[in-house]
Amino acid sequence: MKKVPVITIDGPSGSGKGTLGRALAKELGWHFLDSGALYRLVALAALERGIPLDDEPALARLARELDVRFDVDSDAVWLDGRPVGDRLRTEEVGNAASKVAALPGVREALLDRQRAFRRPPGLVADGRDMGTVVFPDADLKFFVTASVEERARRRVEQLRQKGIEADFEAIAREIAERDRRDRERPVAPLRPAEDAILIDTTGRSIGESLAAMRPHLAQLPAST
Ligand code: DC
Repeated sequence: MKKVPVITIDGPSGSGKGTLGRALAKELGWHFLDSGALYRLVALAALERGIPLDDEPALARLARELDVRFDVDSDAVWLDGRPVGDRLRTEEVGNAASKVAALPGVREALLDRQRAFRRPPGLVADGRDMGTVVFPDADLKFFVTASVEERARRRVEQLRQKGIEADFEAIAREIAERDRRDRERPVAPLRPAEDAILIDTTGRSIGESLAAMRPHLAQLPAST
């Protein structure tokens, strides 16, 4: 059976990989996996149910049993039949996600769920370990980066647009701390796959970053 093609896009939060991945998936007419949303959903469910963020067996069970639904067009996410709304994208949930993501049992529980997104005609998968662990046989792998300052600036701007004032220094510190946790964890640490193409989005618009990625699409198998 012919394997379904996959493009992986890994990198730290705020690098722009989500926006770029969604844009590529749209251009190609492929499915899109936001794997960070799965870790965020586990974290959110744990916070709501009062499960401690270091209770690995309980969190792994939660990850396996979570009733999750994504709507590709509207970008909406449902947890146990209820729309989760903006709380999924808060710093609180992002930080909790980074903690539960360090637990091997949770990562293992989410493996099959993530691989189930690989359906014809193809998948663009966004995360930290898409090219290294989840889809090591991907057809094309990108690793997207940007400086901490640039990522903090983007986050402050995003929050401002939602009417939330944020402190640049505090956000930059949180980003650096989360990076460190994601990079230094023993399981599936954040690092580029050996065969990944590096894209630095510092000082580049979305359009410019996409333009840097597009020529590499020529590497995809001819039928895709
Ligand atoms: O991309 P994001 O900010 O939504 O991810 C939230 C957290 O989940 C982040 O701290 C790292 C973790 N994560 C991970 O460990 N592996 C993935 N494939 C995706 C996200």
